[in-house]
Amino acid sequence: MDAEVFHSLKNLTNGVAPLSELSQTDPSRSDWLTIDACGIHADFSRQRINRTLYEALLHSVDVVDIRGSFRKMMAGDIMNATEDRAVGHMALRAPATSSPMAQQASGQLERAKLLADGVRSGSVCGASGKQFATVINIGIGGSDLGPAMVTRALRRLANGPVVKFISNIDAADLDEALHSADPETTLFVVSSKTFTTLETMHNAERARRWIQASVPDWAHHFVAATSHTEVALNWGIQKDRCLEFFDWVGGRFSLSSVIGFPVMCAIGADQFSEFLVGMADMDSHVMTAPKEHNLPMVHALMWWMNSALHSFSTVAVIPYSHDLSRLPAYLQQLVMESNGKSFGVDGRAVLGGSSPVVWGEAGTNGQHAFFQMLHQGTQVVPVEFVTAAVPLGTDDEAHDLLFANVIAQSEALAAGRVHDEPHKTFEGNRPSSVLVLDELSSRGLGSLIAMYEHSAVIQGWLMGINSFDQWGVELGKILAVDAATAIEFGVSQDEQTMTHPLLNWYVSIRKKLSRNQ
Ligand code: F6P
Repeated sequence: MDAEVFHSLKNLTNGVAPLSELSQTDPSRSDWLTIDACGIHADFSRQRINRTLYEALLHSVDVVDIRGSFRKMMAGDIMNATEDRAVGHMALRAPATSSPMAQQASGQLERAKLLADGVRSGSVCGASGKQFATVINIGIGGSDLGPAMVTRALRRLANGPVVKFISNIDAADLDEALHSADPETTLFVVSSKTFTTLETMHNAERARRWIQASVPDWAHHFVAATSHTEVALNWGIQKDRCLEFFDWVGGRFSLSSVIGFPVMCAIGADQFSEFLVGMADMDSHVMTAPKEHNLPMVHALMWWMNSALHSFSTVAVIPYSHDLSRLPAYLQQLVMESNGKSFGVDGRAVLGGSSPVVWGEAGTNGQHAFFQMLHQGTQVVPVEFVTAAVPLGTDDEAHDLLFANVIAQSEALAAGRVHDEPHKTFEGNRPSSVLVLDELSSRGLGSLIAMYEHSAVIQGWLMGINSFDQWGVELGKILAVDAATAIEFGVSQDEQTMTHPLLNWYVSIRKKLSRNQ
């Protein structure tokens, strides 16, 4: 964003009165700061914003040409210049006839759905002819967080094999998944865009040895979801079990591709299709709705305003839905890997800072852990409450209590409380938004997730950065290979490094204490 526009927006924040005053002076506030779209009721009326700032922010959507960027993205332009790639995640849920990208994607999704149906019905089975009872997804980052979050969120719809997710290089993760599994009835899904990621390939090789120890015809027990099919085939994945997505789908935007295969195994292809319908609903909303009623646009403006203009460096996403408990982890990658960058596409420093730190935990549990700090700490942390109107489960009264807590927390943060004693005083004026799904259905969840995808991308465009690359993860990967080599061969690390005393200490203690040598 142009420096002049940025500074004029920032100046406008000085004129924003405290929330308690804003709500009294403008009783219509919740009308213009509430949006209903695609089964989501979004209330932004307790954000630190007044009409003037709101109008100016809406205007910045045109200044930055958000709509033009969306059109370019959909036309297949190279939006990810540092990797020379188009950005096509919206094509994954568009009608097959809408573009060559959509056609490619839909063919692979159909293959994935057929395979998942086969796994669920038993027509696709293990080498010994037994039906798969357990599906274990091996993947990390975008090849884990999205499908794991959705499988958990929709777990009440699960009616297929048990679906587990393992990601960590720490052996404890796979150990636990294998603990109760039977090799003859276990199917592994190796999910990796590149099919080279250290953690995933190490765990996949270990899984293959585990299967081979009892089932020589191991390949019947593996499916791959990847954009590097030739690498997966060389690894030994059978052609009919190799599901493809494409280099124009970023890892953290890949949930609606064949990376959703484990979700299909858990809840069935039809429910996964419903999830995609929900995403497509939001795609068409973001493209067509006027900006003041456009949920992803207004959501992005609120998040960007909080981090870049108000300088609130973190945002707490608190799902008041136990089944959405993995949402904060999913959003951490979506937002922070996309937008945690210091330089814009023009090579200049980002104005007002980049991505906020995204964190969170399910409510009401969080209230009994960190909400003390949210109410009375010295840092202001904007909070996003995410919940659903229709009760799930067997206790409607509990759901009303859950929702009552959302209202109470949002009110307490905004209004605060005056008291003679400082430790009983709540200063208030602490911003929060409330997003309420009609229901935590497959379709509603799809809309919510697509909303977050678009919001992250729009925030990136407001910052002027490339939200689609992730060069910041590369250095650590290279250094990990160097350190692993030094550990394996027991050699001293380069003395120039700041970590060589620690590495040398580890090499010597490992020799002395290891239980596995
Ligand atoms: O290390 C970051 C990252 O490249 C993410 O962007 C990606 O989602 C994750 O690793 C996993 O990559 P892959 O799907 O290629 O295994």
